[in-house]
Amino acid sequence: MEQTDTTITDLDLTQYGLKKIASGKVRELYEIDSDTLLFVATDRISAYDVILANGIPGKGALLTQLSAHWFSLIQTHLPTLRTHLLPTPTALPPSLPRNLSTRSMLVQRLKIIPLESIVRGYITGSAWAEYKTHGTVHGVPVPSGLQESQKFDTPVWTPSTKAPAGEHDENISPTQAAALVGKELAGRIEDASLKVYQMAHDYAAARGIIIADTKFEFGLDEATNELVLVDEVLTPDSSRFWPADRYEIGRGQQSYDKQPLRDWLTSSGLKGKEGVRMPEEVVRDTEQRYREAYERLTGEKHR
Ligand SMILES: Nc1ncnc2c1ncn2[C@@H]1O[C@H](COP(=O)(O)OP(=O)(O)O)[C@@H](O)[C@H]1O
Ligand SMILES: [Mg+2]
Repeated sequence: MEQTDTTITDLDLTQYGLKKIASGKVRELYEIDSDTLLFVATDRISAYDVILANGIPGKGALLTQLSAHWFSLIQTHLPTLRTHLLPTPTALPPSLPRNLSTRSMLVQRLKIIPLESIVRGYITGSAWAEYKTHGTVHGVPVPSGLQESQKFDTPVWTPSTKAPAGEHDENISPTQAAALVGKELAGRIEDASLKVYQMAHDYAAARGIIIADTKFEFGLDEATNELVLVDEVLTPDSSRFWPADRYEIGRGQQSYDKQPLRDWLTSSGLKGKEGVRMPEEVVRDTEQRYREAYERLTGEKHR
């Protein structure tokens, strides 16, 4: 791991007296107080569940600001859905380096529900692979005759397990999800996820981007039993964004995400290997795609 002026892959805020709660593939979580977390996105990137040795310049700030953009749209369009973002403006502790603010969020600390709440509007990726062999998506039969990248008649909720670090998430059916977290809660998660997806899909479509699928996480406010949308939302790390003007069914799409990185890892036989360093070209290509998605969705240049 390394650190340059513009790219932060390692981050240690314990030197500022903060207690570290967890370290994900991309984010570092620190405790502000018993109810509040500092949620900091680094510039790390992962593919096939392995973190690369170098990062993507500016990625952490871009993901944080794109999530903030969506949280604000959610507040406007779906005002009854709670999110973990604390009501602004909540200043970061003054002792912290100022340049962290663009990549950080203060969030409500919650018990995370152990489901990846995936919504798919189009058939691609692991769902397409399953459909080709079994005619199902996450174990659920779907109409026959679909082509790759085709839009579903209505978006489908296709949860997966949230595997512990180092293990792979497993696609499950809504029935299995209900068995894991309870029927009532699973129903609320499905409903909220489909609503956010639909709002975001329509918003993005008007800006030339198809949100093919996305993954949400939810927490539970144990005091009120309310569902709270947590984590990052609707970023190129958690979603497949396709340029609408190049969309064509019957083939895979050139998405605004890690596809160049995945393709390079596969073609160079490095898929799933630890400590791999991306060549400059893959870094630039990925950075460019993330920026383009950000600019189209927010209408603003990133930095
Ligand atoms: N409000 C919250 N309270 C507690 N944990 C959260 C909250 N929001 C997100 N998380 C957790 O923080 C982590 C985010 O870090 P990230 O690097 O994205 O992890 P991952 O490798 O699991 O994708 C995830 O494990 C997520 O479940
Ligand atoms: Mg994550």
